[in-house]
Amino acid sequence: MSLRRSIAVRLTLLFATVATLVLAALGVAIYLSARHDLVAQDFIELENKVALISDLAGNGPADGRALRLREALSHHPDIAFHIIDDRGSVLFSTAPALLRAHARLQPIDSTPRRHDWILADGRCMHALHLRQALADGSQLITLLAIDDDRHAAFLQRFRHLLAIAIIAAAVASSLLGGYVVRRTLRPLRTLADEARQITAGRLQRRLNARSAPAELEQLAQTLNGMLARLQQDFARLTEFSGDLAHELRTPITNMLTQVQVVLAHPRSNEAYRETLVSCAEELQRLAQIVGDLLYLAQAEAPGALPSREPVALDAVVDSLLEFYELLAEDRQLTLRREGAARIDGNRLMLHRAIANLLSNALKHATTGSEVRVRLAEADGVCRISVHNTGTPIAPELLPRLFDRFYRGERSRHDGAGLGLAITRAIAQAHGGTVSVVSEPTGTTFELVLPRTRP
Ligand SMILES: Nc1ncnc2c1ncn2[C@@H]1O[C@H](COP(=O)(O)OP(=O)(O)OP(=O)(O)O)[C@@H](O)[C@H]1O
Ligand SMILES: [Mg+2]
Repeated sequence: MSLRRSIAVRLTLLFATVATLVLAALGVAIYLSARHDLVAQDFIELENKVALISDLAGNGPADGRALRLREALSHHPDIAFHIIDDRGSVLFSTAPALLRAHARLQPIDSTPRRHDWILADGRCMHALHLRQALADGSQLITLLAIDDDRHAAFLQRFRHLLAIAIIAAAVASSLLGGYVVRRTLRPLRTLADEARQITAGRLQRRLNARSAPAELEQLAQTLNGMLARLQQDFARLTEFSGDLAHELRTPITNMLTQVQVVLAHPRSNEAYRETLVSCAEELQRLAQIVGDLLYLAQAEAPGALPSREPVALDAVVDSLLEFYELLAEDRQLTLRREGAARIDGNRLMLHRAIANLLSNALKHATTGSEVRVRLAEADGVCRISVHNTGTPIAPELLPRLFDRFYRGERSRHDGAGLGLAITRAIAQAHGGTVSVVSEPTGTTFELVLPRTRP
């Protein structure tokens, strides 16, 4: 089983890829949301400090402000402060020079607004930069900032944890997906195993369609249908080889016996001649059978119609009636054609099909009766029927008439039983059918052929 073609491998890979992508997207979303929350918390902390500064600086004597601010704010090493009063003196400052230099170029807000500043050294700072009005009427210019790096270590650990969790989940879901896919495809393997058991000698076996899942049930039923047809065809083929051997054996045995008898003692020239004549007859019969079989094989092959041409069937029938005229006179039969029809088909094949029906009708017609060929066209089909009066064919024999080598009791010695099989093959090559109706009043064979290529 090639890996590239295996449905299980493909589905597993697809499942693993989708699971990994979904988990990775989820991981990125979780990480970004956590990071966003941390920054928001940083700003809330800065805003709280703004309120605290306002309280500390506004309540109490002005000359103690710097001290009060230092005592309260110096425990927050993570936050950079730079607080200036309205006279320009610095009350409290922990901000590095680079941050102060950056702040000097930035607008001073009147209410707290959140800023993300990138300093000259590339660091990112979350900052508030505002003018605060105090309770005693004076003002402060306050700068507070937190380095974005503050959570770097935590975020890195979080990233690692997420990556490990995602990889583990992707591996687990891929393995699980692989297992599920393999389990799901098991019925397919069962079907394949069952199919492998079916050989020419075990064509009666069928796939178990009912135990297959719904999606495979139809496939199994279709395959079973195909097996049934194959079994039928195979049986017919076996029967045909048997019949063929049987057919060929009789004339060969006849010849062999005659030749052995003649060779057993010295004979007159006349006796040798008789034997040769008799052998020639048998050989003629064999040649006829082999020729008919070859013709049948060609007519039954797909695309058997060599070429189509417009054929006037009345002319074909007339030439055949003329051909059979002498034979008919011998048996005091009258031959008649009714109607006319034209068809796109193969003249030689149609000639042969009608000839086969006519020769049968002449063989089986009651002496002194009429053999009638009727031609008609209607609804895009052309009907050719050949009727003769005679002993009706038993209904149970009707389905077998068109089989190869089938012949009735009376025809046992003068035909091979291939005429009707050939006629049917010709009808099918033209996209048509042949049927028979046999009643006490007579027997009618009818060819129904589409007038143009179907
Ligand atoms: N018009 C008919 N009336 C009665 N029986 C018929 C008629 N046509 C055919 N059959 C029966 O059908 C059998 C098969 O006919 P088919 O033409 O295939 O073979 P065949 O005439 O015996 O031999 P072949 O045509 O090969 O010389 C005949 O042997 C005969 O028993
Ligand atoms: Mg015949």
